[in-house]
Amino acid sequence: MSEKMSILKLQKMKENRDPVAWITAYDLPFAYTAEQAGIEMILVGDSGGMVQLGYQTTNPVIMDEMIMLAKAARRGAPNTFLIGDMPQGSYEPSKRDAILNALRFIKEAGCDAVKCEGGQRMAGHIKAMIDAGILVMGHLGLTPQSTQSFGGYRVQGKSQKNFEKTLEDALILQETGVFAILLEAMPSEPAGQIAKQLSIPVYGVGAGDMVDGQLVIMHDLQGFYQSFRPWFAKCYIPTVVENFVDHLSQIEDVRKNGKEERKDGLLVIAEMAIKEYIREVKEKKFPGKEYSYPIKEDELKELKASKKWVEY
Ligand code: KIV
Repeated sequence: MSEKMSILKLQKMKENRDPVAWITAYDLPFAYTAEQAGIEMILVGDSGGMVQLGYQTTNPVIMDEMIMLAKAARRGAPNTFLIGDMPQGSYEPSKRDAILNALRFIKEAGCDAVKCEGGQRMAGHIKAMIDAGILVMGHLGLTPQSTQSFGGYRVQGKSQKNFEKTLEDALILQETGVFAILLEAMPSEPAGQIAKQLSIPVYGVGAGDMVDGQLVIMHDLQGFYQSFRPWFAKCYIPTVVENFVDHLSQIEDVRKNGKEERKDGLLVIAEMAIKEYIREVKEKKFPGKEYSYPIKEDELKELKASKKWVEY
C-alpha cells in the first residue's frame, strides 16, 4: 500500500510537476475500488446528490446526506486522503456554522479535509475554518451551487474581467490559507496561468492540462449516470473492456475461488477504468486538447493583454 497523501506531499508534487489524479466517490464500492486502483485523493462531492441520490442539482443536498455518503466512502477507502464537500447552506450563514459543519466531516465521517465554493465573498468563513485547524480546499470557476448567479453552467475564465476576478479570488484564498484550489470548467490557458501564479496546488475539473492535477466525477469515468455527462469528461470503460474480457478468460472457475477471489464483475472493470485514468493523468495524456474547453484566438489575446497576465 502506498503512503497516504498529505498536504506536504501535494505541495512537493506541484514543485516536481507530478500531476495529482483524484476522483469523486460517495459509497463503499466505488471508494474501495478507487483506493485499490491507487487514486491519490477522493472527493465526496455534493455532486453525489445528483449522481447518487437523484436530485436535479446539488442545491437540495444537506449536511446529513453528505455525512452519510462520506462515512460510506471512508469505510471503502480507509487509507486515502478524503475530502468532504460542504453543501450549500452549510458554510455561508455564519463562521460558527462553517466550523461546526466542517468538523462534522472530520469527526463523524473521518475526512481529512473539506472543500467549499467561493472566493473573496467566502474568505472570512474559510479563514475561520482554517483557524479552527481544518484543512480547506477552495473551489472557483464554475461553482455549481451558485450557477444561477452567473447564468447557468457556463465555461469560465474566457473574458478578461472573469479571468482577473478568478485570479484575484484565487490569490485571496491562497492568502487565507487554503491548501489547494480546484478550478472548474475553464480553458487550459487561463487555468494554467492561475496555477502558475499561485504557490499552492491548483487542480482542475474540466480546466485543461496546464494545472497541477485532475479531478473527475466517478460516474462520468464509469459511464454510470443516465442524465448527463459534460463533454470534458471521459468514460474509460470502452478502453478497458478488452482487458476485462482477457482477464475473465484467464479465470478457470470463479465459484471455486471463494469470496475474496471472485474477481469477475463490476469491481474489477471499474478498477481497471480508474487505473487507466490515473495512468493517463500521470503520463499527461488526459485531458489533452480533446477533453479541454477550447478558447478562441481573440479571447486569448484579450486575456494576454490583461495587466495581471504574466508570461512565463
Ligand atoms: O461536487 C463535486 O463533485 C464537485 C466537483 C464537480 C468539482 O464539487
